[in-house]
Order: sequence, then structure tokens, then C-alpha cells
Amino acid sequence: MENSGEYKELLVIFKKIAYLKSTSRLLSWDQETFMPERGQEHRAGQMSCISGLVHSMLTERRVGESIEALWQEARNMDISSDCHVNLREWRRQYQQAARLPEELVRDLAYSRAVAHSAWVKARSRKDFSMFEPHLQRLVDLSRKKADLLGYKQEPYDALLDIYEPGEKTSNIEAIFRGLVPGLREILHHVQSIQPQQPLCFQAAFPVEAQKILARLMAARIGFDFTKGRVDTVVHPFSTRIGPGDVRITSRWNERDFTEGLFGVLHEAGHGLYSQNLPAGRFGTPLGDSVSLGIHESQSRLWENIVGRSIEFWEYFFPLAKSLFPGQLQGVSQQDFVRFINRVRPSFIRVEADEVTYNLHIYLRFQIEREIIMGELPVKDIPGRWNELFREIFGMEVPDDSMGCLQDVHWSGAAFGYFPTYTLGNIYSAMIFDAALKELPGLRQGFRKGNFEPLVRWLDTRIFSQGQRYRSRQLIKRITGRPPEHHSFLAYLHEKYERIFGR
Ligand code: CO
Repeated sequence: MENSGEYKELLVIFKKIAYLKSTSRLLSWDQETFMPERGQEHRAGQMSCISGLVHSMLTERRVGESIEALWQEARNMDISSDCHVNLREWRRQYQQAARLPEELVRDLAYSRAVAHSAWVKARSRKDFSMFEPHLQRLVDLSRKKADLLGYKQEPYDALLDIYEPGEKTSNIEAIFRGLVPGLREILHHVQSIQPQQPLCFQAAFPVEAQKILARLMAARIGFDFTKGRVDTVVHPFSTRIGPGDVRITSRWNERDFTEGLFGVLHEAGHGLYSQNLPAGRFGTPLGDSVSLGIHESQSRLWENIVGRSIEFWEYFFPLAKSLFPGQLQGVSQQDFVRFINRVRPSFIRVEADEVTYNLHIYLRFQIEREIIMGELPVKDIPGRWNELFREIFGMEVPDDSMGCLQDVHWSGAAFGYFPTYTLGNIYSAMIFDAALKELPGLRQGFRKGNFEPLVRWLDTRIFSQGQRYRSRQLIKRITGRPPEHHSFLAYLHEKYERIFGR
């Protein structure tokens, strides 16, 4: 098949599409970092022009016909062979685009843009009613989108599949059924063993010194600054422009150094994956990342499992002390590690610790599912949110900016996105377990600042594979088990015993 003209033609078309998408990512990175305020309108025009081009190239009849014809042959090939993988993923991209009429795509893009600014205002005024009609519009359009994309069991499946190809709502539900009671138990336990009066820093941590430490940490774990850069933004993200060009971003807070430091580690984890995707495969599925869940497993692995470990700070604490001699005077390494791992329920997801984080996701998953099923009217979202929050955390939400208005996702109609965070967390624990089994000296290496064996191991199993396997299959290949919650709970339990236990 590799030598057929039709296949070669698809390679050319999808490479062009990939270049266009890559250009659009660069424009959007610029928009978040350096673009002047009044460039907004022109930028929106540039980006919608590119996405229109991509859509028309992708949905051209001849493309669909070639894909279908070649797929008949490729579907019977070895499922991990290059041709099978490329056609499987091209077909998916084609179908997703072809099933959505251009009018709906445009309508969604427009409604999203309008809803986003309404959400910003509603959140700052703590007034859900300002956002409600916009959210209603996005929910209506998203339900229509789910119907058009198609599903077997429930409409939420169709939306989840956009972010985590092949994943099912029923699997997510089963994971939470085991995860949630386990997390609540660990939360109780940690609250009883961690210091009742944790460390508290009075002095500010100058941002310039934070940036130095963050860059040192990112470089040490393997983020290559000749193939990437770090810039400052309001809402951190990372993006792969293409081979040799990965942009990560962070924000900085003098009063809370954990935001910037662990933010950079998180994004550098995404960045490591992006920088090590096979460059020669650019423009084909074999040169692309698997899913949001697998991507998040990489960021959480470096941010939390490695970056908040005792061993990691054995190497970096002396460096931190030399950069912040006054601030860290009299602070022991143990106190420091306890401080960055303190656990406490809070209202805001992005500030949550490793134990409560997935409880926040569970709440959002339930609400999203009810909305998309049509069981929960949009106007009842604040009430439902607060009720669930009380049930899960035992706390009263003070206002909607601390509740259902806190996240950007729904203003972008990204229903089905949230569960990929929890998938990323449970994958990260499973993946690290497998790495520890195969490389028993891993933690010893961290003490000396040696992270290369782990990066090489991840490269063979994940980075170099592109989209050869879907997430479930990839996790099974690496760990021998399908995605499950036990490894994550065991990881947390062991971690807090080591850090806070006597
Ligand atoms: Co992330």
C-alpha cells in the first residue's frame, strides 16, 4: 500500500493540513503571549481563514473516497502497522469533519467567542445569570454535535471521544466508582497525620530567581531549550508548533512560588513528550500525540510523581536554598517537602492538591453528563454544583466564581474534556509503577539529578510511538493492565506515609 499513488497523495494532503494547523498554533501562542491588544480582530480573521482552509481540504470528496478505499485494505492489516494506523486516524479525522456541517462549526466558533467574554464578566461579577443564555446556546449546539458525531450508548460518549479517542463514559464512571471513596479515605488519613500548623512563608520569593530555578529544573529533566522556550501568560499552556519548536508557558507569583515552579514542571512534562515525538513523521498520525489523557499523564508524572518527591528535592533543595537564602533560612528539606505536599480541601480546582484534585473532576464529570443527557437544565447548574460540592467536600460554596463559574472549559463548549485530567492522573501512576519495576534504581538517580533513564524509558514506550496505539491499548501494553484506579491510590497512600508518617 505504501507505494500506491492514492496513499502517497494522502500523505501529501495531510502534511499540508498539518503545516496549516501548526501555523494556527503559532498564531494562537502569539495571541496569548506577545500580540498587542488591538491585534485581536485581525488575528481572529487569520485563524478562522486557516481553519476554513483545513476543513475544506479535509472534507474534499476525493479525500474521503481515497480513505475509504484504502481502509478496506488496511483494516485487515496488523493493527500496529504504519498503514493501518495512518488510515485509522485519517479516517477518524475525515469522519469527524464530514459529519459536522460547516454551519454548525461556524455557529459553535462564533458562540464560543461570545460566550467566553460573557463568562469572563460573569465570573468577575459572580453572576451566573449573565453567562446562562450563552451556556444554554453552547449546550444546545454541543448536544446537536454529539448526535451528528454519533454514539452507541449515550451522547456524552461522542464528546469524550473527541479528547480521548476510543474511551467510553461507562469506563470513566467505573473508574470514579473505585477512585472517589478511596480518595476520601486518603484525604481523612492525611489530614490526621500532616502537621496541624504547616510551614508558612512571610517573605516574598522574587520572580527572577524563581524563573532561574524553574529553567534549571526543566533543563535537568530533559526539556531542550534549543527546541523550545518558556514565556509568561495569564493561563499557562504548552503547544507543539512542530518538530524542534515547542512552546511552554507559566505564570509567576511572589507570594506562592509553587504556582510557577510546578507550573513549569507540568508544562515541561507536556513539552518533553512534544519534543520527542518522531520528527520525521510530522504530518502523519505516527508523529502525533495519542490523546489529552496520555499527554496529561506526562505532565502530572513530572509535576507530581517526580517533582514533588523526596528524592527530587534532595537534589534541588540546596539549589533552591542558594537562590532564596533568606526566605529558606532555617527551613529543613523535610519541612519544605511537607509544605509542597500539604493536603487541604479547597474550592478551586487548579489550586487543588493531588488527593482532592480528582474529586473536583468527578463533580464536573457528573454535571456535564447530566447536562448533555438533558437531565439537568442549564439554569439549575449552580444549585446542582453546590449540592454536589457539599456532598463531596462537606463545604458550602460561597459564590459562583468559586463554584460553577471558575473554569474556562464550558465557555469554550469543551464538554468531555475534564475526564482526561483524571485519566492522566491514573495513567501517570500506572506508568511510573511500570518504570520502577523495570528500572529499580530510578529513585536513587533522582537524588543525583539523573532523570535520563526515565526519559529514555518513556521515549521507547510512549514518545516514539506517536498514535500507533490508542490510550487504553498503550496503557495495557506498558503496564499489562487496562486503566484502573488502584495504582493511583496506592501511590498516594505510600507517598503520604513516607512524607508525613513517623
Ligand atoms: Co496539562
